[in-house]
Amino acid sequence: MSDFLTVRVWRGDEQGGFQTFEVPRLESQTVLDVVSHIQRQLDPTLAYRFACRVGMCGSCAMTVNGKARWTCRTHVAKVAADGNLELAPLAHLPVVRDLVTDMSAFFDKWARARGQFHPTATRKDPFARIRPDSAQRINADAGIECIGCGVCYASCDVVQWRPDYLGPAALNRAWTLVNDERDGAQAERLRAVAGDAGCHACHTHLSCTERCPKHISPTAGIAGLKRAAMKAALRGDL
Ligand code: SF4
Ligand code: SF4
Ligand code: FES
Repeated sequence: MSDFLTVRVWRGDEQGGFQTFEVPRLESQTVLDVVSHIQRQLDPTLAYRFACRVGMCGSCAMTVNGKARWTCRTHVAKVAADGNLELAPLAHLPVVRDLVTDMSAFFDKWARARGQFHPTATRKDPFARIRPDSAQRINADAGIECIGCGVCYASCDVVQWRPDYLGPAALNRAWTLVNDERDGAQAERLRAVAGDAGCHACHTHLSCTERCPKHISPTAGIAGLKRAAMKAALRGDL
């Protein structure tokens, strides 16, 4: 086995191309370690994003050998056993430069899906008591650990076909709030996600669920939204 990795890295904007670097191979090396080595030792002009390095902030996602992944917790040995790595920006988002994408559209869709909490109580009211074993609490818990990395969004074919589709992360966020008994914007949220570009556009391809590094299933949440939207429509609430 060679002591070096051959790393092809996207440079420039959408019209850019790949540049090849040789990076020393190390034990327990992550893909983010490789990118940092290139930027610190070989080319300080390389643009990329990260913050926490421990899988919490969601900022380090890239396309690694053709698949969207978080890079701080992806070991090179797992994805490039033959020593070849190809790194590109996340798909389905505009490229700012090199490995950095513009996430504005991704987060704007969270807002369009009414992904903000709308409280019904004031700080003077007692804490809400939500039973840990209630079905709604279990549904909300299943999606709440999303770190906003965009891996699901970059893996979803429907986002590619129709750019107005809200996408798996925004819909997963909406589903956690639909199950939040304290929230007061339920009808408004269901109207926002029930439109043509909302939950009914999902083709259940499951790529989001297969790729989510936090083991969340946006697909299950979207199915829940479809059921909730249908019930609301039958009640005449939409
Ligand atoms: S299940 Fe739906 S949201 Fe997830 S990747 Fe497939 S089409 Fe996209
Ligand atoms: S659902 Fe998973 S893949 Fe999608 S943004 Fe959240 S953590 Fe990332
Ligand atoms: S650097 Fe924060 S999740 Fe990877």
